[in-house]
Amino acid sequence: MPDLLTQQTNIPVTAPTPQTSDASVIQAEQSLLKGTLSIRDLIAPASLKVDSDHVEINGKFARTIFVMTYPRYINVGWFAPVINYPGAMDVSMFFYPIPTEIVLKQLRNKVGALEAQLFADADKGAPRDPLRETALQDIEKLRDDLTQGIEKFFQFALYITMYAKTKEQLDLYTEKIEQVFGSKLVYTRRALWQAEQGFNSTMPLGLDELGIEFNMNSSPVASSFPFVSSDLTSDDGILYGINRHNNSLIIFDRFSLQNANAVVFATSGAGKSYTIKLEILRSLMMGVDVLVIDPEREYQHLSEAVGGAYVNISLNSQAKVNPFDLPRATGQDSDTSDILRSAVITIKGLTRLMLGTITNQEDSLLDRALIETYAKKDITSSTDLTKVIEVPIMSDLVQVLSGMVGGESLVERLKKYTEGTFAGLLNSPTNIDVNNQLVIFSVRDLEDELRPIAIYTIINYIWNIVRSSLKKRVLVIDEAWWLMQYEDSAKFIFALAKRCRKYYLGITTITQDVNDFLSSQYGLAIVTNSSMQILLKQSPASIDIIGKTFLLTQGERFLLLESGVGEGIFFAGNRHAAIKVVASATEDEIITSDPRQLLAQQNAEQEAFAQDMENPELPPVPEAVPLAPEIVPSVTPAVPLQ
Ligand SMILES: Nc1ncnc2c1ncn2[C@@H]1O[C@H](COP(=O)(O)OP(=O)(O)OP(=O)(O)O)[C@@H](O)[C@H]1O
Ligand SMILES: [Mg+2]
Repeated sequence: MPDLLTQQTNIPVTAPTPQTSDASVIQAEQSLLKGTLSIRDLIAPASLKVDSDHVEINGKFARTIFVMTYPRYINVGWFAPVINYPGAMDVSMFFYPIPTEIVLKQLRNKVGALEAQLFADADKGAPRDPLRETALQDIEKLRDDLTQGIEKFFQFALYITMYAKTKEQLDLYTEKIEQVFGSKLVYTRRALWQAEQGFNSTMPLGLDELGIEFNMNSSPVASSFPFVSSDLTSDDGILYGINRHNNSLIIFDRFSLQNANAVVFATSGAGKSYTIKLEILRSLMMGVDVLVIDPEREYQHLSEAVGGAYVNISLNSQAKVNPFDLPRATGQDSDTSDILRSAVITIKGLTRLMLGTITNQEDSLLDRALIETYAKKDITSSTDLTKVIEVPIMSDLVQVLSGMVGGESLVERLKKYTEGTFAGLLNSPTNIDVNNQLVIFSVRDLEDELRPIAIYTIINYIWNIVRSSLKKRVLVIDEAWWLMQYEDSAKFIFALAKRCRKYYLGITTITQDVNDFLSSQYGLAIVTNSSMQILLKQSPASIDIIGKTFLLTQGERFLLLESGVGEGIFFAGNRHAAIKVVASATEDEIITSDPRQLLAQQNAEQEAFAQDMENPELPPVPEAVPLAPEIVPSVTPAVPLQ
């Protein structure tokens, strides 16, 4: 019988074993990879020479210094002069939290030693030692704070790598920075014989290869917060963007300025609305009320996201605003005759917008007619406005005018707005409720010729609300050039911009039509009455007038011409800085107007909806719980009939 085993072993092995095939494939792949170019290859320096106290990368010199000791007292913002120093540098900070119990144990030992020494001195009758006493007080305070959780303890490492083109420049630069640190009594050392480790430690890798730490509790650690620029970082306010000079944050409260008005100028698509939507979103969190005039229906998504009120004003919509509304009298505007006079002037301005030109006779006729129209509803200079129930509407004015000699032409022209095609817009009592922190008025669905009229009326309505109750508010007028085209509406906005500070209101005007805005005397006056100004990318056609108005240097003009989306210059009072507006991913989703992004969001929502429809998630069926024995109905056995 043939030996099966030997027979099997004699079978010739023709196929290669799996191991050898894997190894050769990997080898082949590796050699292929060697030949391909990766991003690392592209960005890596051609050479890195490590010297004793600096490294040389592609002919550039870099040196790292580390902080060794800090003084006993350190002020908030002590780090600002270093951050603001004009020179290329990378800063890295490492925070290592230390468990409180360990620190407390160490401190207890230290207190024991100090107290023993103090007692011993007292026993000997030696003079008191202020140094030890202060140390003891400090430690006791720290022990209290640590125990109560007010403070935490950290080991803190701070490294700075400076870059220069030549060795001489680097030496000079290092000396300057060392001096700045020295002036704050913070002592630094150069990373000698550890230049490479120093360089690595300041790369954005999160690697602390130097490992030189200083023990600190939370307060002094917080004082080294690097995002401070000399002026534009304040304790309160909201984040507007990143300061492009030094990568610090521009945190600012516009209400801390002389007035809270702002203007935003840029070309179309430069990010004006985006910047302001971001400001709105962040201001809402600080409790500011925001009202927006939205001619492009761009703010709807924002309003939905935060639960704001969205009012669509159009010929067919139900929402109505009556230009004859009056504010409820409060504070300084409590004189009814003043209020009536300003209402008459405002409505006259509106009528001029509606009718184009009106003659002097018509003007004085209108004046009388308006006073009479109010009087018809029992509103005169002696009326208590808080008791007014009904205010007139446009057809009341037409009625009064038709009873006056010479009013025929005005009546004829005004009828378009009371009986004609435009009757749906202005001829009804106000029926909207603005009791919401964010209210947006959309005028997108209105005909172009009606837009300025509607915006004017809405702003007048908002102005009445503002005068009726004092509150921190912002009014945003997007695409403000709609109003700047006509003298009456431009004058109206200017008058508001001048007066609104007293009512705790800040007006933001956004416009892409820089030339028209700035060549109008009212436009220019609005700019001078706005303490906050944001300039984003400008077109070559408008840079001259912008440069002249904002006194820009040649470099700043160039910066504005070259700016990307969301980049520009931020002015607050007389301080200014280059800014980059940055939103978080969630904020971006809410405020973007990029059609591609919006479509993708819409599709995602629809898909989610369709999926919900397919597999509806029914509410979980409660599990059948067995009844407790005592409540199980006892079934009495039927007694057999006998
Ligand atoms: N800081 C930014 N970061 C990211 N995307 C931005 C930023 N600013 C604007 N965008 C995007 O750029 C596009 C244009 O922005 P936006 O609508 O704000 O421009 P605009 O200046 O208001 O233009 P228009 O004058 O046409 O109203 C939008 O798609 C917006 O999402
Ligand atoms: Mg816009």
